[in-house]
Amino acid sequence: MNSVTAPTAVPGDVATTDVAIEAIDLVKRFGDFTAVDGVSFTVPRGTVLGLLGPNGAGKTTTVRMMTTLSPPTSGTARIAGYDVREQPGLVRQNMGLTGQAATVDEILTGRENLRMIGGLYGIGRKALARRSEQLLEQFSLTDAGDKQVKSYSGGMRRRLDLAVSLIAAPPVLFLDEPTTGLDPRSRTELWDVLRDLVAGGTTLLLTTQYLEEADQLADDIVVIDKGRIIAHGTPLQLKEQAGAASLVLTVSHAEDLPAAEALLRKNGTEVFVDVPARRLTAATGGLGDLPRVAAWFEESGISVDDFGLARPSLDDVFLSLTGHRATDDTTTDDTDEEKS
Ligand SMILES: Nc1ncnc2c1ncn2[C@@H]1O[C@H](COP(=O)(O)OP(=O)(O)O)[C@@H](O)[C@H]1O
Ligand SMILES: [Mg+2]
Repeated sequence: MNSVTAPTAVPGDVATTDVAIEAIDLVKRFGDFTAVDGVSFTVPRGTVLGLLGPNGAGKTTTVRMMTTLSPPTSGTARIAGYDVREQPGLVRQNMGLTGQAATVDEILTGRENLRMIGGLYGIGRKALARRSEQLLEQFSLTDAGDKQVKSYSGGMRRRLDLAVSLIAAPPVLFLDEPTTGLDPRSRTELWDVLRDLVAGGTTLLLTTQYLEEADQLADDIVVIDKGRIIAHGTPLQLKEQAGAASLVLTVSHAEDLPAAEALLRKNGTEVFVDVPARRLTAATGGLGDLPRVAAWFEESGISVDDFGLARPSLDDVFLSLTGHRATDDTTTDDTDEEKS
């Protein structure tokens, strides 16, 4: 996340324990279709990695391989230092997973769900009761704790799902599209909860189709498309990769657009005109262009509503990397079942 602290180095730690998640050349084939095609990355302890890509990119398949739910065709992953192929039990003890589909039991109450899953982890009765109350409180579910889950809203279900995956306090947490389908308010609430978790030392890998979500939460972003990594960097690096800032100017009156366009062209770059928005966008060398262009507009008498530099959004990044928008929904098959 933007403001998150760097992972704290504990004296005496060996270098490898500072890496919480390691994907090593992961490949997954379904028949002759390659869903994940050589994905490698590392996630330092206490940080957030955003695995960003459109529907069908291979995010869920990657997460399933990293969480022992699906064997890699080749390659492997290490979670908290344990290999998913060699030590799946130890991997599971060190991770939590919230999948794309809710896993909580509808008939049970929130509290019962927490106790049931905690019981499966072998947590003692007293500790489990304490931990359940703590999680209900942390996720604002205390009042709803004794209600059946089937009466919960979408946001409440996601929060319970997350609470359940945290019952054993795993150091590494995987979240597969945690906010898909949530309304904007539930989404920002969940972001806050996730920020708190990371502040408490949890390492997070979250998949998302939302560029804004990765921008909000992730220290590092891996962009995947068609099973391959197409970019990797901090949100800022990815935005810089999409090109320099542009100069954006909105005129007050649509009839001034042609004159404004001619003026901006004097700066020597191409000008893009968005007529309905009365907005002109031009490439720029940076801040130095601003006073010059401002002076031209002042002299011209063209009335301007808004004038400034705009950094490319992650959406622009995705477009420049893939040639299509991240929200293009060409693949709808999103099954979690193994067919082979
Ligand atoms: N069990 C499966 N059998 C065959 N194809 C699958 C299976 N699971 C996923 N796929 C395919 O692999 C690709 C990646 O899917 P997935 O990992 O679910 O993408 P994402 O989570 O990024 O939307 C998709 O084309 C999907 O249809
Ligand atoms: Mg998915």
